[in-house]
Amino acid sequence: MKPYVICHSLGSVDGKIKQTIWGLNDHHKYFEEPASKIKADAWLVGRVTMQEFSSKKKYTISRNKKKIPKADFIAPRVSKTYTVVIDPSGKCYWDTNMVSTEQVIEVLTENVSSPYLDHLRSRNVSYIFGGKKKLDLNLVVQKLYNLFGIKRLRIDGGGHVNGSFLKAGLIDELSLVLAPLADGTIGSLSVFDVEEGYGKRLATHFKLLSVKKIYNNFLWIRYAVIKKGE
Ligand SMILES: NC(=O)c1ccc[n+]([C@@H]2O[C@H](COP(=O)([O-])OP(=O)(O)OC[C@H]3O[C@@H](n4cnc5c(N)ncnc54)[C@H](OP(=O)(O)O)[C@@H]3O)[C@@H](O)[C@H]2O)c1
Repeated sequence: MKPYVICHSLGSVDGKIKQTIWGLNDHHKYFEEPASKIKADAWLVGRVTMQEFSSKKKYTISRNKKKIPKADFIAPRVSKTYTVVIDPSGKCYWDTNMVSTEQVIEVLTENVSSPYLDHLRSRNVSYIFGGKKKLDLNLVVQKLYNLFGIKRLRIDGGGHVNGSFLKAGLIDELSLVLAPLADGTIGSLSVFDVEEGYGKRLATHFKLLSVKKIYNNFLWIRYAVIKKGE
């Protein structure tokens, strides 16, 4: 079994997601208020985005000799909902196992060291292995469902993590907040960053579920992904 996966993103009309030159006041609300209306058991982000929420302290991890087995670690549950980070080589450090009201789950590969696992255990941060050297996102979402009971998963970006879930065919729905502005920065991050150039891959198609005008000139668009054979 796998969760129902909704990708939520705030994009300019040219599909860019970094707000560096957008000049919006109170810019977080355009992403967060619609997100809070999507029922989900967890939100998931890539390592780069999570580093906006994880510890800002400089951690030096102990060089203890204790080898920690590369097996999933599930901390006692302390919240109703979770936040999940795709962090294949263990770059996020934690002061607590919470981001706001959500309990943290780290998704790792077996490239991580024992001292890093020791750090996660010392903070009671749950972690799961999604592959030896490369992540198998199918396995990851199955583990989130089976080990944590996550039945509805919201993917909150950035572009790389959205792109890798899109490529793996794991997104069921797109929730796009379309900001009424053109960014125009060549080469900057977009809603889905999958790969360079045109290969054999075909675009993903959507069917419209709903569209709503919000904050005067923004649109909140909900699409269902059209799966192969539909
Ligand atoms: N407007 C919006 O809706 C929105 C939403 C969220 C974030 N953002 C912005 O987007 C920017 C970050 O986006 P981003 O695309 O650079 O980063 P990201 O998607 O947050 O994180 C990318 C990193 O996650 C890991 N990762 C993701 N998918 C993986 C996979 N399938 N296999 C292995 N590793 C994987 C890799 O970590 P390693 O590098 O450690 O291997 C990768 O470099 C930030 O500026 C943030 O503020 C905008």
